[in-house]
Amino acid sequence: MFPSFCERRKRSGEWVDWQVRLHKAICSSSAKSSMVTISVFTIVILADSLLAGTDTSAVTLEWAMSNLLNHPHILKKARAELDSQIGQEKLVEEAEVSRLHYVQNIISETLRLYPAAPLLVPHMSSTDCTIGGYDVPKTRKVWDDAISFKPERYESGKENTHKLLPFGIGRRACPGAGLAQRAIGLTLASLIQCFEWERVSMEEVDMAEGNGISMPKAVALEAMCKARPIMNKFLPVSSDDI
Ligand code: HEM
Repeated sequence: MFPSFCERRKRSGEWVDWQVRLHKAICSSSAKSSMVTISVFTIVILADSLLAGTDTSAVTLEWAMSNLLNHPHILKKARAELDSQIGQEKLVEEAEVSRLHYVQNIISETLRLYPAAPLLVPHMSSTDCTIGGYDVPKTRKVWDDAISFKPERYESGKENTHKLLPFGIGRRACPGAGLAQRAIGLTLASLIQCFEWERVSMEEVDMAEGNGISMPKAVALEAMCKARPIMNKFLPVSSDDI
């Protein structure tokens, strides 16, 4: 179901070259108008945000769906949440995503295990020490059962949520965090509300990581889907034909 992002990833190198060339051209330009320079930079910043925002969000969605297909009981629980909170009479809307706690926990757990921007090198102290007058204790275990996919771990209160920093922290933190969480939340919720999802075979979805800055999957996700009753309201054909 999901298109392969490999081709786009190959092309992203060309985009960086283009930006470097543009930057050089602006710096060496004899253009007097600062307005032109500002406009060009505004376009570059907007384009940067688009670039930083699209692949990261798409990849996170692909990891989230892969995890759900490998854990059908979690997918079932998410569907039950959507059915009880939204139902099958109308499509889920952005403002309603904040009510879908379990779907949000699925996204948090996906970002914990498969962060789309794994740039923040993990920090931990191997022993009790003092740095610049501050006592830094030896790092204790951060996550229980760290390698398991368990959205339920965020149900115990804020403690686990605060340990999660997939968007960084401080002044350089991701400016698109809010947008990403809304966009991914709404898209994932819509996919679960509108379709039944299954793996293409009995084999589990391959969760190997590929190469690339936004942590792509090594093997693009393929899945089967069947329209749920709500789609009859929006599709002109019978759901049996899909
Ligand atoms: C799942 C989605 C996303 C993840 C996991 C993510 C993660 C991150 C991380 C870890 C950083 C580096 C923070 C640091 O250096 O401490 C970052 C920076 C950035 N992100 Fe995101 N991001 C996502 C989506 C978005 C979206 C949707 C946008 C824009 C619409 C965006 C725009 C940016 C920009 C412009 C920066 C550079 C900020 C700077 O260097 O000052 N990101 N992101």
